Amino acid sequence: MQTLKSQSGPESAPFVKWAGGKTQLLAKLDAQIPQFTRYFEPFLGGGALFFHLSSSRSQFSAQLSDANRELVNSYNVVKHDVEQLIDVLERHEKNYRRAPAEYYYRLRSAQPVSDVESAARFIALNKTCYNGLYRVNRSGTFNVPIGRYRNPAICDKDQLRRANAALRYSEARLTACDYKQALRKARAGDFVYLDPPFNPLSATAHFVDYTRNGFGEKDQIELAQVFRELDRKGCKVLLSNSSTKLTRELYRGWEKSRVRVVRAISCKASSRSGYCELLVRNYAL
Ligand SMILES: C[S@@+](CC[C@H](N)C(=O)[O-])C[C@H]1O[C@@H](n2cnc3c(N)ncnc32)[C@H](O)[C@@H]1O
Repeated sequence: MQTLKSQSGPESAPFVKWAGGKTQLLAKLDAQIPQFTRYFEPFLGGGALFFHLSSSRSQFSAQLSDANRELVNSYNVVKHDVEQLIDVLERHEKNYRRAPAEYYYRLRSAQPVSDVESAARFIALNKTCYNGLYRVNRSGTFNVPIGRYRNPAICDKDQLRRANAALRYSEARLTACDYKQALRKARAGDFVYLDPPFNPLSATAHFVDYTRNGFGEKDQIELAQVFRELDRKGCKVLLSNSSTKLTRELYRGWEKSRVRVVRAISCKASSRSGYCELLVRNYAL
C-alpha cells in the first residue's frame, strides 16, 4: 500500500458491493473525467468512481455523501476506526461460518448501539445478503433475505485498509444528507458525479428502494433541474442513469453517450442480460 503522502492515490476498490455496481461503466466514465481538484459524489453508494479516481488521479479533495445514514456511518468508521472494525468483522465472519442462516437473521434483526458495531453489521449483511442488495421497508428496516455464498469474504482486511487509505488520502468529508443539501457547497470548477437511483426501464423493473422514500419520477425531474443549476454555477457535471424516454428527454441538449451494461439487480436471470446506460455531461473534453 502506498503512503498517504504519495502523489498518486492508494489503490483501492469499493468495500461495499452495491447492487447495480458500476464496474463495467468505469472505463467509459474514465474517458470522460475532466480536470478537477474538488470532487463531489452525492449518491455515493459503493463509491466505485471515487475509489477509481483515488487510485488513478493526482490528489483531490472529496465531498462524499449519501442519504443512507448507515452507509455513511460505515465509511466514517472505515476512515477513522478501521482496525476496530476489522476486529468486529472477524467475529462476524467466524460466527457466520458456524451457522450462516441463523447468524444472518440474528444480525439482521440486531440494533447495534456503537458506530463500529453498526458499520460491521452493515458490511457483514452487505457481503452475505441476496445479491448485495440494499432495500428497506416503509419503516426503514433492512429486509433483504440471505444470499447464496459458499465462502463470503465478510472481513476483507486488505480491501478495508485500502479504502481507509483512499478516504484519508483525499481527506474525504463524509456526510449523510440529501443530494441537494450536499451540492449547495459546490462552486465553479468543481467536478460533480451524479449517479442517482436509476429511472426504471419498466413498471416492474423497479428498484429504487435504497431509502425509505424511494426515488421516483418527480425526483428525476428535480435532479435534472439541479443539473442545470450546477451548470449555471460553472461546475463540471457528469451524470449516469438508465437510458429511458424520460431521462433522454430530461437531458435533451447536453452531451450524451450510451453504454451497454449488465446489472445484477433483477431477480430474473433473463433480465440481467444488459441494458443501455446514459452518460450526460455539461463540459467539453
Ligand atoms: C445507484 S446508487 C449509487 C451507486 C454508486 N455510484 C456506486 O458506485 O455504487 C444510488 C445511491 O443514492 C442514494 N440516494 C437515494 N436517494 C438519495 C437522495 N435523495 N439523496 C442522496 N442520496 C440518495 C442511495 O442510498 C444509493 O446509495
